[in-house]
Amino acid sequence: MNIKKVVVIGSGTMGSGIAAQLCNANIPVTLLDLTTEISERARERIYKSKPPLLIDKTKINNIKIGNIEQHFDSVKSADWIVEAVVERIDIKHQIYNKIFKNRKEGAIVSSNTSSIPIKILSQKLSDKEKKDFCITHFFNPVRYMGLLEIVKNENNDLNKINSLKQFCEIELGKGAIVCNDTPGFLGNRVGVYAMQVAMTEAFKMKLSIEEADAVFGRPMGIPKTGVFGLYDLIGIDLMADVLKSFIKELPEKDKFQSVAREIPLVKKLIETGYTGRKGKGGFYRINKNGNQKILEAINLETGEYSAAEKIDLGIEIVDIKNLINRNDKFGEYAWIVISKIIKYASSLVPEITDKFNDIDEAMRLGFNWAMGPFEMLKSIGVKNFFERADNFENNIFLENLFKTKDENFYGERQLYTNIQTLGKIKPSAIRLDKNNSAETYRFKDFNIVEFKTKACALDYESMDALKNATDKPLIIINESMQFSAGVNLSYTMKFVENNNFKSIEKFIKYFQDTCKTLKYSKHPVVSAPSGLTLGGGFEVLVQSNFVASHTNLVVGLVETIVGLVPAGGGCKEMLWRWSQSEQAKSDPDYAPLKVFDIIGYAKTATSPIEAEPLKYLKPEDIKIMNRNSLFEESKKLIDQNNDFTPPDECKFNLSGKPLKEKMINVLEKLYNEKKILDHGMYVGTELANVLSGGDTSIDKLLSEDDLYKLELDSFMRLIETKQTQERIRHTLSTGKPLVN
Ligand code: NAI
Repeated sequence: MNIKKVVVIGSGTMGSGIAAQLCNANIPVTLLDLTTEISERARERIYKSKPPLLIDKTKINNIKIGNIEQHFDSVKSADWIVEAVVERIDIKHQIYNKIFKNRKEGAIVSSNTSSIPIKILSQKLSDKEKKDFCITHFFNPVRYMGLLEIVKNENNDLNKINSLKQFCEIELGKGAIVCNDTPGFLGNRVGVYAMQVAMTEAFKMKLSIEEADAVFGRPMGIPKTGVFGLYDLIGIDLMADVLKSFIKELPEKDKFQSVAREIPLVKKLIETGYTGRKGKGGFYRINKNGNQKILEAINLETGEYSAAEKIDLGIEIVDIKNLINRNDKFGEYAWIVISKIIKYASSLVPEITDKFNDIDEAMRLGFNWAMGPFEMLKSIGVKNFFERADNFENNIFLENLFKTKDENFYGERQLYTNIQTLGKIKPSAIRLDKNNSAETYRFKDFNIVEFKTKACALDYESMDALKNATDKPLIIINESMQFSAGVNLSYTMKFVENNNFKSIEKFIKYFQDTCKTLKYSKHPVVSAPSGLTLGGGFEVLVQSNFVASHTNLVVGLVETIVGLVPAGGGCKEMLWRWSQSEQAKSDPDYAPLKVFDIIGYAKTATSPIEAEPLKYLKPEDIKIMNRNSLFEESKKLIDQNNDFTPPDECKFNLSGKPLKEKMINVLEKLYNEKKILDHGMYVGTELANVLSGGDTSIDKLLSEDDLYKLELDSFMRLIETKQTQERIRHTLSTGKPLVN
């Protein structure tokens, strides 16, 4: 079966997301709704979406639109028809009736339903029609959420389901997990249960919502929105509907029932329009006090709002075992919540799936958890878990594990895919080294470095790992979401607070030295980025020899936002890339001025397609839809380059003073228009100094080391200013840049 043309019916949140992802995969797609105006509006929403649903906005018109009356003929030539209309069975049945009358023989028809069982969706279909019908449950936002649950019915043509799975994996980049027809399938059944447990236990233990979110968040490897923040994001009213559907579909004895009951405070919030971020606020709200926006949190007992407290548990790295062993209310809460999630998830095996680790994968891909319940159990340790846990009768999985006490019960990861992922090969790789910031593995005849810090921020130890791993071909790749959000600013600020600028200088020099080692290592170095690849993260990438990039990438040099300039070779490499362009041959100032504009404005790209015109990526860099394939593709690059020779050193001819003046003219214009202020002017002048080559002239040849030195000197002058320090502190405490 070959999917060459797709029709999506229903152009709401999900239909438009699915159409956009098909467009990203260059598959012709038509988006139909009740009226063409509705689907036209959907297309506008796709175009304007943030974060963008399209990897290349210029392709927007590849999504054809229409209505289900006049344009239904498009169904006749489609190989796959996806139904994503409102969650109403009568409407869905009507649509299937029309689709099956029009579809071509053998075309697949699927529903995006989140809660209607396939046996009910397909109850009016003939056996022959059922053969080609299934559920394809995508998650929102479709481009960014990795999970796709495929639910079969008993009549399905399994070859067809397999080729659909293949298509969704390779072309659409999804982690496609085939699962049984049970309420909420895998992700929502466990994910929503987890949210409910986290919420009800917070009420019971009288924790504040900030305290609960501080535990049920990063320390557990869960996105920092936590539980109450996530409730606000999804919509408190929508969550109430989801719970009603679970209460209706699940048997009375199911443990879910006990945590799904309506909570009076939640009811009141919905009734008063506090439905979350889309409403007046929710558990959190923004209160405006004059020009100031204050984040407030609700008191679960009184329902009153007050300024939200920042709770810092002092945890940098996910360590479930340590977390549950803390001797405080946070440790107690973590244990209660985690043990309940483990017990519930394991009680569902084999009913919802016979592969228990598919549940983990669903939590990883559908809820962005770093590890699922079974991996949490593994990291707690089987013996430790049973020393503390009781009450698991009728839970076949735990009863068996209690008997065997097998600490190695987990087995292979990511069973749902045949792709050779980093997660799959790790158990058979040799761990050469582990420090606080990175792990190094040897697999076959090459090394792998994986960053391990929060957002994979880089520090001395990350550099150490990279530098020490260049004795063999090297792949730099992470299982966690981001490649690297840049140099670890908290680490840098610790030196600032102690007035220890010498150590900062030493670190930046080491950073530069490491990047140089990567670039000129006699073995090839491959970077496999996905997610945030910013600042120092980009500098590692740009000084690798090869790149295999995921299509969900946010890449750029953003240092000027915090009042710094790139100092790990970012200015140098961008200058080099731009100086190779046609225009640079006739105008020696062309490249530096371009780079001045890109770095000065801290331009970022949100996909490889956007990254190429900025030269953050090169045309020959590999671009991959499925994040799981990053490792395989990187490995291929190493195999194909066994006769690798390192690149020649770059040399630069830069105009010096006259060029710097041109750049300062640009800055002065911005200053006069009040687009930048005094410190912006200062930062821009330092950037101009680096990119013009400092004290040089066009006939002088500058080496890479000369440019590294210029970067370092500017960086040091900037980090010593109060204004830059203030910007960094502000960004660290709010997660947002200081705008002035
Ligand atoms: P939505 O309300 O955003 O969009 C539904 C669209 O269907 C609307 O544009 C509406 O005009 C259209 N529609 C209604 N009747 C129609 C008909 N007879 N013919 C053609 N179009 C018709 O809904 P959303 O959120 O996109 O949900 C769609 C489906 O996806 C539902 O089954 C839902 O359960 C499921 N789902 C929703 C998720 C979410 O996060 N919103 C996540 C996963 C699944």
